[in-house]
Amino acid sequence: MEIDRRAFIASLGGVAAVNLMDHEAKADALEHYMEEKLDAGVAAQQPEKFPTVAEIEAQIETRPFRRGAGSVFTSSRGNVKILEKMPDKPTLHDFFRLRFAPANHVLQSATRAMKTGMSEEIILACLLHDCVLSLIKPDHGWWGAQLFEPYIPEKSAFAIRYHQTLRFYADDDAGYEYPDQYYRIFGHDYQPPQYIADTYKMLKNHKWYMEPRLVTVNDLYAFDPNAKVSIDPFEDIIGRHFKQPKEGLGFDNSPSAHMWRTLSRPDQPL
Ligand SMILES: [Fe+2]
Ligand SMILES: [Fe+2]
Repeated sequence: MEIDRRAFIASLGGVAAVNLMDHEAKADALEHYMEEKLDAGVAAQQPEKFPTVAEIEAQIETRPFRRGAGSVFTSSRGNVKILEKMPDKPTLHDFFRLRFAPANHVLQSATRAMKTGMSEEIILACLLHDCVLSLIKPDHGWWGAQLFEPYIPEKSAFAIRYHQTLRFYADDDAGYEYPDQYYRIFGHDYQPPQYIADTYKMLKNHKWYMEPRLVTVNDLYAFDPNAKVSIDPFEDIIGRHFKQPKEGLGFDNSPSAHMWRTLSRPDQPL
C-alpha cells in the first residue's frame, strides 16, 4: 500500500507532534493508519447498502416535521426564513423565482427533454412535473396535475399526473430503469401500494402511455447541483402553452387558485 507521507504526518498532528513520539508509538500509528486506509478502500468498493422500509419508518419520530411537508413549510438548516412577498398579480415566472427556486431539478429535466427533441407538451410537463413539491410531497403527481391543469394542455397535465406512477416501473424499450434513488428514499424492499399498481395497469393500455413515460425518461436523479440552468430557453413554450390568468395565479377563481394562494402565503395560520 502506498502511503502519502504528508497526509500521514498531518493525521498525527504535524511534524512537531511526530517528533515527540518514540519509535514504537510511530510504528503503531503507521499500522493503524494503514488499517484505516485499507478499510476505507474496501468500503468504497462495496455496493451501497440501501435501507429497508422498516429502517426508514423508524426515522419518523426523529424529526420535528413529516417527510411529506412541502419544501416551503420546512427547512433542512435551522429555522425557516421570511419569504419575499409575491407581486399582486403573480405569474408562473414569479412562482419559479420566489417559491419553486432553485428549481434545478425541473429545469435540468426540461433542458434534457428539449435536447432530446421532445414535444412542447412534454417539455412543459418536464418543466412543471415536480414544482408542487414546494406545497406537498405525497401523491405529487396528482397534486401537481391539479395545480397546473386549468392552465396547460391536457396532455401535459396527464404526463404530470402519471409520472409519479410510472417512475416505479422500468421500461427497457423507452430507456427507463428503476432508479437507485428510490431504494434510498423508499427502502430497497418497498412495494408500491395497490392504487399505484392499479394505475400502472390502466396506463399500460392507455393511448397516452408515452406522455408520462417520457417525463420519467427525462427525469434526472443524479442531477448536477452546479449546472447553470435558467427558465429563459422555455419562454416561448410557456408563452404558447401556459394560460397565464390576467388576475394573477391565485386570484382567477380557478379550481386550483387556493393552492397558488397557499404557496404565496405559507405563513398564514389558518
Ligand atoms: Fe416527480
Ligand atoms: Fe422529478
